[in-house]
Amino acid sequence: MPPEKSPVARTIKRRISLGELREYALTPARVAEDVLTASNSVLLPHGTELASLVSSVDDLEKVLRRWGIFSIPIVIHNEVDIRELEAMLKAAETNLAVVDPELARQTVEQVENVYDRIAKGTCGPEDISQLAMQGRNLAKEVAQAPQVMLCLGKVRGWDEYTYVHSLNVALLGGFLASRLFPDQPEIVERLSMGGILHDLGKALVPKEVLNKPGPLTDEEFAIMKKHPVYGEELAIANGVADEGVLSVIAGHHERYGGKGYPKGLAKDEIRIEARISAVADVFDALTAKRVYKEPMESRAAVSLMIDNMSTHFDPVVVRILLVSIGLYPPGTAVELSDGSMGVVVGARDRDLLRPEVLLQIDHMGRKVEEMKIVDLSLNQSLFVQRPLQDVGKIAF
Ligand SMILES: [Fe+2]
Repeated sequence: MPPEKSPVARTIKRRISLGELREYALTPARVAEDVLTASNSVLLPHGTELASLVSSVDDLEKVLRRWGIFSIPIVIHNEVDIRELEAMLKAAETNLAVVDPELARQTVEQVENVYDRIAKGTCGPEDISQLAMQGRNLAKEVAQAPQVMLCLGKVRGWDEYTYVHSLNVALLGGFLASRLFPDQPEIVERLSMGGILHDLGKALVPKEVLNKPGPLTDEEFAIMKKHPVYGEELAIANGVADEGVLSVIAGHHERYGGKGYPKGLAKDEIRIEARISAVADVFDALTAKRVYKEPMESRAAVSLMIDNMSTHFDPVVVRILLVSIGLYPPGTAVELSDGSMGVVVGARDRDLLRPEVLLQIDHMGRKVEEMKIVDLSLNQSLFVQRPLQDVGKIAF
């Protein structure tokens, strides 16, 4: 079993004036260093909890003033359990423009069903057309869901990876297409439909190969590499005729530099829909947790993809991914410049550095009870001090 994720933690140090003592006595602040008299006697030992002084603040203030001390150094250390942050995101779900979780769950189930039928040989055109319809519904949702990154669901069991992954590729592919082609909803739709169907051919790949928890042998990889072709054939046989949708199924493993499969197409030979889906496919695979690997943080995944731009991906599409999710992708826990802490939930105006943050701990280290989203693009005095950790996504 992989180790549990450690809590998100941060420590702030600051000096507070005596006038602020009363307020800070209600926070988890501690005295950062011994507070001494002129003759070096300890008035307040380091580590003292300010909360323990709450009933004697007035007397303490007088004593400190008498010694000519007008401020004291404090330290506030906060630790937040990842599960707590996840619960907070979940609670905020209705206030965030995320994809309807019910629609997401239904889609995952439907993908699973269709795969099952294909494997058993009982799949018909109506199953595929229903699934494609679901893709169309998703396309509408995606267009209205700037926080799409939070909707890239988590996989519960490893058998479900392919199904949830299909949904994620549909969502992210559709989202990238909507950013690249804001006036062409038909491209968004092709990406959403194609995303749902893109790994259809895997239903014909033996489960032992598909779910092997580790690297494949050359032989196994050769079988695996057939899935785009199998998928395209299955889709055509079941009535999918749109060239753009088919290109996603057949071409999502083609590489921009020409070294992909099945055809080894390069650059413009690969349809734009397939180029977009390739980016969505790899990004989701990198950031997914699998039996044999921990998920990569979104920021690290984007950097890795930038490194592989031009050999693997269309640089224009990768740039849109970066611009859309910013330097602090939704789902990243961050510390703000005033010491407060929260989770990035979205970005406005394509400002890489100024996302929207759902606050969890305020600037004094207190837990924020009411849901509060700070839009850094509107609050120029506040900025992201540093990213803390990837909290992740909303589970379906
Ligand atoms: Fe694939």
